[in-house]
Amino acid sequence: MKYLLDTADLAAIRRFCDIFPVAGVTSNPSIVNKEGKTDFFAHMNEIRSIIGPGKPLHIQVTALDTEGMMRDADTLLTKVDKEVYVKVPVTMEGIRAIKRLKAQGVHVTGTAIYSSQQGFLAMEAGADCIAPYFNRMENMGLDPDGIIAALAEMIRLYHYPTEILAASFKNAGQVDRAFLAGAQTATMDPSILEGVLTQPHITNAVA
Ligand code: G3P
Repeated sequence: MKYLLDTADLAAIRRFCDIFPVAGVTSNPSIVNKEGKTDFFAHMNEIRSIIGPGKPLHIQVTALDTEGMMRDADTLLTKVDKEVYVKVPVTMEGIRAIKRLKAQGVHVTGTAIYSSQQGFLAMEAGADCIAPYFNRMENMGLDPDGIIAALAEMIRLYHYPTEILAASFKNAGQVDRAFLAGAQTATMDPSILEGVLTQPHITNAVA
C-alpha cells in the first residue's frame, strides 16, 4: 500500500512527509486554487523539493482538448521536471492525449474515473496510474469497491503495468475499502491520515 497526499499545502506536505510514510503528492486544479494567488510553477517546484526527486508528483492539465493537454504537459515537464506524472482526465480528448504522451515516454495518470470501462480504456491507452474517484462514485450510488476490484482483476489477469491510484476520499474507512478492493495506492487529504492516529480512544489508551 502506498499513501500519497492530495494537497498543495506546502506546510502540510512538509509536516506530513516528516511523520508518515508518504509515497508522493497529487493535486488537481481545485486543490491548487485553494492555495490562493501563487506562482504555480514555483509552488510545484517547492513541492518537488520537499518530497525529493524519487517520489511521484502528479500534476493535472487544465486544458479540455488534446492539443491543449499536450501543451500543458509540455509546460509541466519543462517548468517542473521530466519525472512529473501528468494527470489527464479520461475523456474523449484525454484518452488521445494519454496515448500521445505515452508514445513520448511521459509518465501519465488517467484521472476523473467513475467506471471500470473508463479505467480499462486508460490502461489500454498506456496510463501508468488510473485514479478512480471513490467518494464521488459512492455519492452517485455507484459501487467503488466493485469498480476498483474489476480494475485490479484486469491488471492481474492481463499483467498491465498500471497502478490504481484511488482518490476522492472523505474518511479512512473509504481508504481501507479501496486498498482491500485492490488499489495499490491511495491519495488523500492529510487530515484523513492525521485522523487515523489522533482518535481520543487511542490517546486515552496511551494515557
Ligand atoms: O484528485 C481528485 C480527487 O482529489 C477529487 O477529490 O474530494 O474533490 O472528490 P474530491
